[in-house]
Amino acid sequence: MMSKYAKSQSVGFKNTIERVAIVGAGGTIGTHITNALLKTGRHKVTALSRKDSGNKLPDGVVIAPVDYDDEATIVAALKGQQFFIITMAPTAPRDTHSKLVQAAAKAGIPYVMPNAYGGDIDNIKLGQDTMLGPVGKAQRDEIERLGMQWITVCCGFWYDYSLAGGEARFGFDFDKRSLTLYDDGNTKNSTSTLSQVGRAVAKVLSLKELPEDENDKSLTLSTFLNKGVYIKSFVVSQNDMFESVKRVTGTTDADWTITHEDTKKRYEEGLAQVKVGNMAGFGKMLYARAFYPDDSKDLSAKAQNELLGLSDESLDEATKVGINMVKELQRRVERMAS
Ligand SMILES: NC(=O)c1ccc[n+]([C@@H]2O[C@H](COP(=O)([O-])OP(=O)(O)OC[C@H]3O[C@@H](n4cnc5c(N)ncnc54)[C@H](OP(=O)(O)O)[C@@H]3O)[C@@H](O)[C@H]2O)c1
Repeated sequence: MMSKYAKSQSVGFKNTIERVAIVGAGGTIGTHITNALLKTGRHKVTALSRKDSGNKLPDGVVIAPVDYDDEATIVAALKGQQFFIITMAPTAPRDTHSKLVQAAAKAGIPYVMPNAYGGDIDNIKLGQDTMLGPVGKAQRDEIERLGMQWITVCCGFWYDYSLAGGEARFGFDFDKRSLTLYDDGNTKNSTSTLSQVGRAVAKVLSLKELPEDENDKSLTLSTFLNKGVYIKSFVVSQNDMFESVKRVTGTTDADWTITHEDTKKRYEEGLAQVKVGNMAGFGKMLYARAFYPDDSKDLSAKAQNELLGLSDESLDEATKVGINMVKELQRRVERMAS
């Protein structure tokens, strides 16, 4: 592991992160992270992509085709990189994350951002109830065991994506103009837009890697090692979202069909589906659990927006972005089902 200060590094040490590798550069969150990194002009971004992938990658990345059944291709793509970001489809085979992390260790990568981008990693109960906590913990432990360090993003639900992603998420069905409210719809959750997540990652990777010496108290990338980066865009209830949706679409209550569901019952139903292998229940279970009135997924008290210099966003602009994503997300569900 590296010494804590830049002054003790070998000659030629630059104290910046310039070479970044990413998996999923053409994916939902990966596109935003990649574009934000490229926009800084400080990073050369290498996109590891399956050799037969049909995903379009952002202009400006170096493409490194990989084969998950041939570790040498992954190690070769990661050689010389300083930071490795994993954004991978939850539908990828379970051992893929481990394959990437093992290859990263062999390539000598010091820092990994694991595939998470969800809730507060320190909220153990929520993590257990949504089943995501133990998976994330195992991924972080593996990174440490292999001698590397991690930085994970705790951003809550993606606002635009979750608004657009169907009834099982934030309850909105834009085709039917229907909304399912969890209980009274007043439980607030902290959410982040996809672009805010991208900006946050780019900010962290644009910091100095290490303090110059013991007197340097500035914010550095090393501040975040083996910790979460906590961010938010909006702390909102479904009713807050609904007000924004009505403003943006020029609709009124009369245009929408509203139903209420008991959140805990909905969680149990989703969980029962997952237990019999019906993964359609997963989203239902995950989102319902996060809207428990007495234990919601609000991580805003820990948000580091100010520390990172992230500016405020407009809720209605984010709602517009979300509504524009509806059709694309529907196409993805159809593609996965076919
Ligand atoms: N906070 C939230 O609201 C929220 C919402 C959704 C997801 N997430 C989390 O965010 C993370 C990334 O999700 P995402 O939606 O950005 O992912 P995604 O767009 O579905 O996929 C990202 C990349 O994964 C690769 N991939 C796809 N199928 C694969 C397979 N079978 N084997 C190996 N690689 C495969 C593809 O890269 P190539 O084609 O280039 O190989 C793809 O571009 C996940 O951990 C997910 O749980 C969070």
